[in-house]
Amino acid sequence: MERETLLIVEDNMILRDGLKEMLRFEGFHVLTAGNGEEALHQMATITPDLILSDISMPVMDGYTFFYRVRERAEWVRIPFVFLTARGEREDIMIGRDLGAEDYLVKPLSREELLTAVRARLARSQQLQMAQLEHAYEGSLTVLANAIEVRNEYTRGHVERVTAYAMILAEQIGFAGRRLEALRFGAILHDIGKIHVRESILTKKEPLTPEEWDEIKLHPITGAEMIKGISYLAPAIPIVRWHHECWDGSGYPDNLVGEAIPLEARIVTVADCFDAMTTERSYRPSLSLEEAYAEIISCAGCQFDPAVVSAFQNAWEKGEIQKIGA
Ligand SMILES: [Fe+2]
Ligand SMILES: [Fe+2]
Repeated sequence: MERETLLIVEDNMILRDGLKEMLRFEGFHVLTAGNGEEALHQMATITPDLILSDISMPVMDGYTFFYRVRERAEWVRIPFVFLTARGEREDIMIGRDLGAEDYLVKPLSREELLTAVRARLARSQQLQMAQLEHAYEGSLTVLANAIEVRNEYTRGHVERVTAYAMILAEQIGFAGRRLEALRFGAILHDIGKIHVRESILTKKEPLTPEEWDEIKLHPITGAEMIKGISYLAPAIPIVRWHHECWDGSGYPDNLVGEAIPLEARIVTVADCFDAMTTERSYRPSLSLEEAYAEIISCAGCQFDPAVVSAFQNAWEKGEIQKIGA
C-alpha cells in the first residue's frame, strides 16, 4: 500500500520535529509547516491524507487554516485534527463548532497519536470508498437507462430487474459485497443493447433470423464494453450469461446448469419475469399471476430450480408483487 501523507502544522519546532519523527518511524510520509500559511503553501503541490494542526500560531492560526482548507472542494474530505494545549476547553468548543473531526491534547503520548491518526485515516478511506461506490452506481444507472430511452416499452426495466434480483439474492442468502456485485450486474445486464439498431428494438412484426442474431449479440457486446473497468469485473459474468438457460438452450455460450454463475441465473429469472409482465412492441403483457405461473413451470428447463424456489418464497411473502404492481 502507498504511504499516507500527513501534514503537521505546529509553530513549536521541538514539538513539530518530535511528532514528525514519531510518525515517520511508523512509516508515514510527513510534511511540516510552522503556521497555516506555510501549510497552504505545501498543499499547493501535495494533498495530504490527514492534517494535524496546532491552534494558536503566528501569521495564520489553526482556525483560519481550517476554514481555508474546508473552502476548497478538493480538500473538504481531508481529516483535520486540532492539536490543543491541555486545559484549553474554549479551543475545543470553537473547533467543534467548526466541524473539525478530532482533538488531541498536548502533550501527546505515542499511542494516543498513532491510534487517532490511524482511526481517522481508516474512517476517511471508508467514506471515500462509499462515496465512490455511490457515484459509480449513479453513473451506471444513467448509462443503463440510455438504452431504455430508445425504447418506450422497456422503461423502468433496469430498475425493476435490479429490484427483483436483489429480492431473490437475499432470499438465497447473498449479502455484502456479493450482493453489491449482483446489483451492478443487474443494472448493466442489457448495456450491450446500445449497439442494437433501434428499428430492431422497437419492431412490431416478428424479427427475421438476421435481426435475432443482432439482438443475441448484446450479452457479448455488453461484457466487452465493461471489461476494461476493473471495478465492474464481477458484473461481467452476469452481463454475458443472463440469457443462458439451465437446460443449455440459451445463448451466447449454451452453458448448462451450474456452469452458469448463480448471479446470472438469478438475473435471468428477474429479467424474464419483468419482460413477461410489461408490454412489448410485439405483444401485450401477462398479468403478474400468469407470469408467476410461467416462471414456476419453467423450473428445471429455462430456470435454475433453486432460483425458482427463491422466487416462489418471495412471491408468497408478497415481495415480488410490490415491485411489479
Ligand atoms: Fe438481455
Ligand atoms: Fe433485460
